[in-house]
Amino acid sequence: MIPPLAQLGKTDMLVSRLGYGSMGIRGPRTWGVRVVDDAGADQILNAVLDSGINLIDTSPDYGASEDRIGRFISHRRDEYYLATKCGCVYTQQEDHLQLDHVWNRQVITKNLETSLRRLRCEFVDILQFHGGDAETLKREGLIECLRDLKRSGKVRFIGVSTSLPKLPGMFDLGVFDTYQIPYSLVAPEHASWIQKIGQAGAGVIVRGGIAQGGPDAVIARPAVNDVWQKANLDQWIDGSTSRAELILRYTLSNSDCHSTIVGTCDHRHLAENIAAVAKGPLPPELCNELRQSVAAVLATQ
Ligand SMILES: NC(=O)c1ccc[n+]([C@@H]2O[C@H](COP(=O)([O-])OP(=O)(O)OC[C@H]3O[C@@H](n4cnc5c(N)ncnc54)[C@H](OP(=O)(O)O)[C@@H]3O)[C@@H](O)[C@H]2O)c1
Repeated sequence: MIPPLAQLGKTDMLVSRLGYGSMGIRGPRTWGVRVVDDAGADQILNAVLDSGINLIDTSPDYGASEDRIGRFISHRRDEYYLATKCGCVYTQQEDHLQLDHVWNRQVITKNLETSLRRLRCEFVDILQFHGGDAETLKREGLIECLRDLKRSGKVRFIGVSTSLPKLPGMFDLGVFDTYQIPYSLVAPEHASWIQKIGQAGAGVIVRGGIAQGGPDAVIARPAVNDVWQKANLDQWIDGSTSRAELILRYTLSNSDCHSTIVGTCDHRHLAENIAAVAKGPLPPELCNELRQSVAAVLATQ
């Protein structure tokens, strides 16, 4: 089963609608989450490519993630599009990475040089501002900085990972090839922006598109579970559909979402997600019912 593909906006990239978010392979001394060792990261990254996923998202401040992508799959670089980020400052503390975002040319240029070295490649397909706001990026000349990096051949397209309330200002800049935005059945706040951006012709990469695994997640997310229960979404689950599958297929029923970069370090989940995506979009009537059930719950919060 190979995941379906979509054109990523006006870029030349035909991306798998199921992408891979590599935050989960960030390794030890990051943020106290489940720790994946080198062997586990090697296996999951290669399994991701073997499954036909061709879009990988990472960031300089995802601990060992970039380094592991470089070490374990850079020999397969022509099999995947690579998106990383910039504006990241991080210092290793005893047991965690201290993260900050700093918006100047020096940080951005240094981020990219470090990323290329760790990723063991000549260029990244997408360099995304890891947050930021339109005023600061303009004031610091950082759009021009990314364009310079594009001209140098080290970056093919420029993007931003953002969310409300900063998203509208970023969109008004009119300069980004791609937008990375949070969205799922239980967290649909950015739905109208996804439509607006997709219809403006830019590429839309969704994060959080499986709602961190939903109620079946190994790491429980109380906010997700609360919406799920109040909206009584279990009524749509039967022996042939898991909760994670319903969430993922809902995300990909949105045709303005070109790819969703789901993170997993579990081979069983990877296989389930590939199988879920192969089933295709949910019926439009079901999407409407789900949307309305969740909207009714969110309206009371
Ligand atoms: N500001 C930013 O730019 C930003 C912020 C956050 C994330 N991101 C990017 O977006 C990516 C995804 O974000 P995310 O990790 O927050 O959201 P996500 O992809 O919705 O959730 C990932 C979680 O879902 C679980 N999962 C995946 N498939 C599952 C299944 N079939 N059943 C049960 N659980 C499943 C995974 O755990 P298992 O390992 O147990 O499968 C993992 O903990 C990140 O890796 C990163 O690349 C960007």
